[in-house]
Amino acid sequence: MSTIILGIESSCDDTSAAVIKDGLLLSNVIASQKVHEEYGGVVPELASRAHQQNIVPVVDTALKRAGIGRHDLSAVAFTRGPGLLGSLLVGTSFAKGLSLGLNIPMVDVNHLHGHVLSHFIRNNPDDEVPEYPFLCLLISGGNSQIILVKGYNDMEVLGQTIDDAAGEAFDKCAKVMGLPYPGGPHIDRLASEGDASRFKFARPHIPGLDYSFSGLKTSFLYTLRDAKKIDPDFIEKNKADLAASLQHTIITILLDKLRKAVDITGVKTVATGGGVSANSGVRQAISDFCNERGLKAFIPARSFTTDNAAMVAIAGYYKFLDRKFCSYNDVPYARVTI
Ligand code: KG4
Repeated sequence: MSTIILGIESSCDDTSAAVIKDGLLLSNVIASQKVHEEYGGVVPELASRAHQQNIVPVVDTALKRAGIGRHDLSAVAFTRGPGLLGSLLVGTSFAKGLSLGLNIPMVDVNHLHGHVLSHFIRNNPDDEVPEYPFLCLLISGGNSQIILVKGYNDMEVLGQTIDDAAGEAFDKCAKVMGLPYPGGPHIDRLASEGDASRFKFARPHIPGLDYSFSGLKTSFLYTLRDAKKIDPDFIEKNKADLAASLQHTIITILLDKLRKAVDITGVKTVATGGGVSANSGVRQAISDFCNERGLKAFIPARSFTTDNAAMVAIAGYYKFLDRKFCSYNDVPYARVTI
């Protein structure tokens, strides 16, 4: 008999549902919330309400696209955390209702595990997936971590940010430049037209494999503030070079520690994931580094870098095979690490 998992993701501002059958992806539907744009960031209460409106049609569409009836489901997997508590509650409550109504097990998924395991989402049985152990550079709006992945449920954080995440560095510096939220994609686009060697910003000197981005943010802010005193149009005139230099600095910081982690662990495979892994410069730098060192690189399709239920469904699929179910008493958690 086939194993068919419905995945539900509602940790932030994307409502998503996906269906995976025997490890292969049949559908992945994402409803993004436009309601936050005018506020320059995600408004938690608005996010929860939008999830409530979206979740039934999103799940319905995912099942239809997959050609699966709800009675065919083996289990429902859902993001239990970390994320916005109100948003997580919508997905968790929906999963509980569905599980009770259909009398099928429920599998809880750590959102961060989902990002790491996005490399195991396959459309065809012969699609290549990473071999354990591998390193995953998980870079998003809330996290910057180097993770040693020894198994689908066996992950060790080797280093992480002690202040801002890489995505926050992109977004906060973009805000100083007057770019819309989230600024990461705008910096990416501008950087392709700029000179990355034009400006120099502070780089951290943190021991071990931990990251820090707050010094870079401050030096970026001061550079712009001082330059604007002399020329009020400084940002407008130099935006491409500023974006390229900022992106280059972030990539250098990320790659320095990744290189160290490879040297320490001796792994042969490097993966990346999370929203910032959509960045063209980051993708190119990881791929060049892996080529130079003879490592296998796994860089996710852009659609799997941001929040999606396919990664929840695949993480849930592996837990389901190991009969690791959760109980109706389990509640969402806002904060958790790997
Ligand atoms: O994983 P994600 O969707 O969710 C959160 O952690 O909230 O990551 C969002 C982050 C934001 O900081 C956004 O600016 C960044 O990913 N991001 C990018 C790019 N696309 C998204 N940063 C740089 N370049 C991009 N192309």
